[in-house]
Amino acid sequence: MIVGSVKEDASLDKRISITPETAQSISNLGLKIFLEKRYAEHLGIPDENYKNVNFFDNPHELIKNSNLLAQINCPSTKLIESFKENSILLGILNSDKNNESLNNLLKKKVNIFSLELLPRITRAQSMDVLSSQANLAGYRAVIESIYEFEKAIPMMMTAAGTVPAAKVLVIGAGVAGLQAIATAKRLGAIVSATDVRAASKEQVESLGGKFLTVEGSENLETKGGYAKEAGEDFKIKQAQMLEKAALNSDIIICTALIPGKPAPRIISEKMIDGMKQGSIIFDLAVTQGGNSAYSETNKIVVKKGVKIIGMSNVMNKLPVTASSLYAKNIFSFIRNLYSKEKKQFFINIEDEIIKDTLIKEKN
Ligand code: NAI
Repeated sequence: MIVGSVKEDASLDKRISITPETAQSISNLGLKIFLEKRYAEHLGIPDENYKNVNFFDNPHELIKNSNLLAQINCPSTKLIESFKENSILLGILNSDKNNESLNNLLKKKVNIFSLELLPRITRAQSMDVLSSQANLAGYRAVIESIYEFEKAIPMMMTAAGTVPAAKVLVIGAGVAGLQAIATAKRLGAIVSATDVRAASKEQVESLGGKFLTVEGSENLETKGGYAKEAGEDFKIKQAQMLEKAALNSDIIICTALIPGKPAPRIISEKMIDGMKQGSIIFDLAVTQGGNSAYSETNKIVVKKGVKIIGMSNVMNKLPVTASSLYAKNIFSFIRNLYSKEKKQFFINIEDEIIKDTLIKEKN
């Protein structure tokens, strides 16, 4: 059985799905590996660092000869033509955005697994691409914000005077938000955060953050641990609370998402109007519609001296770390899919991980 991977479109995504370390782990399972030539050169990893790997000049040849293709994004229409029947595609395939491409693959009888659909269960944690990447996104959002912020973060008492600590507000305390809190705390900021899930209060506080609760609100958490969409009454109360909090904040990191829905709009024009000049809003939810007014993908919009930052792929700012974690997620998924006894990939639909990630034809 052969596991292959071709280069992503480097103008969009610098990450890779197989690192030299995970190539070794995949090969230890008894699988062969095919990679496109100069697969990770842009990350400073030459082909020679990969042991027991065959390199291909032509990505079409590679795909034709692979039983499983490990990618990050959905392959291009041209590449899809080269998939063979019963082969497997793994990636973060975003079925809503890539419906047509995925349906074409299904017509070719390709088995598609989209890893953003993994159930949030303990056994799937080592494969959880949303967590591994969101954690880094939360970290990097703070770093990027600080880079744009023209003041120091920690409190400093010097002979020349005292520098006050910066105040950071984190909206949404899921995986990205919690890492943003931890990172801002480590750098010396005073951190507060809010979320609609009651469970997040304890997590925020355990990281040294102050939790801002919307008065009289119910716990908006689904059975699966995700957020539900808030009602109008909640939105009004949340806006009132955040208007005051935004006024006092130097940096706001927005991470709030609701699965399958556009990102909730939380930071309004009015809140931004009230913020101090030189403050920063980093909107990690920008590609899902944004949590903040004015946020635009791959732009820094300046409104009354407040910079609102939107980036389409924060992972491109730390592609080596993001790849190292993503490749381990991919390896764990492959290990679960490969039957050593049968010496082939085994699509066991009884397995919750396999069942939930397998894409079926939509229309
Ligand atoms: P996410 O990326 O879907 O959303 C980010 C955060 O935004 C969430 O905490 C959500 O509650 C919050 N949010 C949504 N609407 C909001 C609003 N209007 N105002 C304020 N906050 C709002 O969430 P993520 O990071 O993927 O985590 C989702 C759940 O999955 C959490 O309960 C987390 O603990 C759980 N989880 C479980 C794992 C496991 O393996 N058991 C692994 C990772 C996450």
